[in-house]
Amino acid sequence: MSSTTLQLHLADEEATNALAQQLAPLVAGHTHEVAMGGRIHLHGELGAGKTHFVRALLQAVGVSGRIKSPSYALLESYKVSSLYCYHLDFYRFSDAREWLDAGFRDILQEDALVLIEWPEKAGNLLPPPDLDLHLDYAQEGRRATLHARSTKGKIWISRLNPSRPR
Ligand SMILES: Nc1ncnc2c1ncn2[C@@H]1O[C@H](COP(=O)(O)OP(=O)(O)OP(=O)(O)O)[C@@H](O)[C@H]1O
Ligand SMILES: [Mg+2]
Repeated sequence: MSSTTLQLHLADEEATNALAQQLAPLVAGHTHEVAMGGRIHLHGELGAGKTHFVRALLQAVGVSGRIKSPSYALLESYKVSSLYCYHLDFYRFSDAREWLDAGFRDILQEDALVLIEWPEKAGNLLPPPDLDLHLDYAQEGRRATLHARSTKGKIWISRLNPSRPR
């Protein structure tokens, strides 16, 4: 199988959107190459573009209407046909009880799409993702580094076309 790491320069928001649009059919199970759903952890400083990427991905998957940042609610949920999507942000997370109170265990169902900002703030409550996506400031744009952490994540990376999101 191909490489487990992919690095891209995302020169502007459009390039970020293009990467999300390439990933969308894979995580939504539209390609029949991989099972629906998956788990992505998003890393990067404040304003690096984690929420922007999640919005672009959810829109490309077919979520319509407003996609709120879950910074205060911890969790926003969506459903697109049979795909459950969960967007979490652990920036303000402080207490493991919050996790249980919000019913977060439910999101760990196998075929859901789970997108988590600031996963490092959840300590070891979270199982490993299929993909770690790091966003770093690079000139005017961003550098995206994708690390596959599962077979599914490796398949996603192998199906992305690095020349397109530039
Ligand atoms: N490739 C890119 N090049 C330049 N700007 C970008 C790129 N992708 C996204 N942006 C911009 O970067 C900003 C990212 O804000 P966003 O809220 O997504 O950050 P975040 O990583 O979620 O921050 P936080 O940790 O506060 O949640 C937005 O203004 C977005 O338009
Ligand atoms: Mg954010």
